[in-house]
Amino acid sequence: MRQFKKIIVTAGGTREWIDPIRFIANASTGKMGYSIASELVKQNYPVVYIYGNVSEKYAHVEGAKNLSVETTLDLLNTILSELEERTLLIMAAAPADFKPKNPSTFKIKKQEKSLLALELEPNPDILQTLSQHIKTNQIQGCELIGFAAETNDLEKNAREKLIKKNLKYIIANPIQKNSGFGEEKTNIQIFSEVGRELEINYESKDIVAQKIIEFLKQRL
Ligand code: CTP
Repeated sequence: MRQFKKIIVTAGGTREWIDPIRFIANASTGKMGYSIASELVKQNYPVVYIYGNVSEKYAHVEGAKNLSVETTLDLLNTILSELEERTLLIMAAAPADFKPKNPSTFKIKKQEKSLLALELEPNPDILQTLSQHIKTNQIQGCELIGFAAETNDLEKNAREKLIKKNLKYIIANPIQKNSGFGEEKTNIQIFSEVGRELEINYESKDIVAQKIIEFLKQRL
């Protein structure tokens, strides 16, 4: 893995504003991305940590270049501004897939007895956009690693995402009551295009991060 000039690690959810005081978000705390970025810094890799809406304790990785983003579009543009030859991207962030179509510049007042329908439009798929960008601009030596949070059909959905987003590996985790977003312990399975490569069961996210990095060091 030492051939990479930089390793970009993303973490946390993104925010999409509805009006100046309300936003759409998700339950990601940023813990997985933070643990991976911290472990990579400990092992002397050059890390760029790009974080969205994370818990305060995951908002800075000592020894990394830290960049904060808000929306999915910010996240995409910030990764694009950092992406160069020989970049490894570990995409642990949970970007919002949709954003309000017409965010209000004023606080939306409650209108009693009427329904408020929020019209949403899709955000770009960051990994898909990046793999296209790398291909079009012939940026050499880059690899993309994705995550897949799934409530069902873990292997099928993860492998479909791997192909669609053109990833080297995808790290899938089942979202259940005791593992997944915000929980300290988690289960993961790593898939490549040939199938399941590694399974880690119910370990802390720090241990999972160490094992993911060990795996990547053996393969990349
Ligand atoms: N991802 C992305 N751009 C988005 C949404 C997700 O690049 N707009 C990335 C995530 O960071 C993750 C991978 O794609 O590494 C899979 O994310 P996930 O939310 O599991 O899948 P989606 O592609 O959003 O599909 P769905 O929500 O339908 O499961």
